[in-house]
Amino acid sequence: MGTRVDHAELVVSPGELFQLSETKRIRSSIGLQLSDHSYLPKVDDPRADWVASVAVPAFKTLAHMGVLAPRFCTIGTGAGLDALAAVEILQARVVGFTDLHEDVLAYARENIRSNLLDKDVELIGGVGDLLAPLAGKLSQVDVLYENLPNIPMAGNEDLADGQTSSTFIAERSEEIPGSAEKNLVALHYLALQQAHPLLRVGGRVLSSIGARIPLSEILSLSGAAGYNGSILTYTWKVQSEPTEVVGGYAQWEREGLGPFHFYPVNVLRDAFEGLPPAAAGAQALKVEEELAPFEISALEALAMVEKGEKVGHTVAILDSVKIPDSAL
Ligand SMILES: C[S@@+](CC[C@H](N)C(=O)[O-])C[C@H]1O[C@@H](n2cnc3c(N)ncnc32)[C@H](O)[C@@H]1O
Repeated sequence: MGTRVDHAELVVSPGELFQLSETKRIRSSIGLQLSDHSYLPKVDDPRADWVASVAVPAFKTLAHMGVLAPRFCTIGTGAGLDALAAVEILQARVVGFTDLHEDVLAYARENIRSNLLDKDVELIGGVGDLLAPLAGKLSQVDVLYENLPNIPMAGNEDLADGQTSSTFIAERSEEIPGSAEKNLVALHYLALQQAHPLLRVGGRVLSSIGARIPLSEILSLSGAAGYNGSILTYTWKVQSEPTEVVGGYAQWEREGLGPFHFYPVNVLRDAFEGLPPAAAGAQALKVEEELAPFEISALEALAMVEKGEKVGHTVAILDSVKIPDSAL
């Protein structure tokens, strides 16, 4: 699938990882340079990789609906693979991208630039929190994608350390609806809020959300931020970084947040067997109901992880479409 050359360099085949028969706008062999802070693509395990198992199926679903994104933006791009997928699948020509760390952004810029076949793509990058670095630099966006972390830091984590900022978030000073706080989806809510002025009417935000909370709670984020929301795609992932992530959720569950739910991997595999992400998205509430008897709490999931067993979770792409002010 991909070859891990050394800590700072990866080679990815988009044909295999993104399941594309050919690539027209990006190289057929993608070289990626990564810093210590860069979120590591799981190139040898597509089911654990966010871009392969979540972003790409969502982009393909949009393209299949006839929705392309000449003006695309990703918040928290990490290695830059999500932007490359958007160039190929959504035919992005203007690509906005942000991340928290200088080095992550510099590598992402080079990773995107050096793997483009079509050199006529404008890259607008910015280092900093959410969309703040792109203020005044990007407008009339068609599709904005984000796959931001969820878990507030609870103790000795340090966002400046390694890939911590891919999993944990700092305390926020903005006003956040109580339900978004209790469900640990504050950053997704803030991204929706900040994206609104950058989008064209009819433009959309795709929020990639590990659905460890009810889908009804995820759907309510769109309305709270002034959009029309629906579930575009529904799929599942093997929990990546399981000790940190499940441990983080378990800690907050003990504090009375959530509850959060996970599932045994075999249950997810069976439930989604033969159900592509778009088809599952169209019947997401029914699939969620069928899975309900198999839910395990974060504390139960942590016990499995500690025994070396894999757990998984569902992932929803929340599709929030900007409606004209007159329709509000
Ligand atoms: C789970 S990784 C996802 C990386 C990539 N977008 C993907 O889908 O594979 C989350 C990324 O968001 C970045 N991030 C976290 N908090 C952020 C914030 N407040 N503003 C911008 N980026 C942030 C992290 O540094 C990390 O690169």
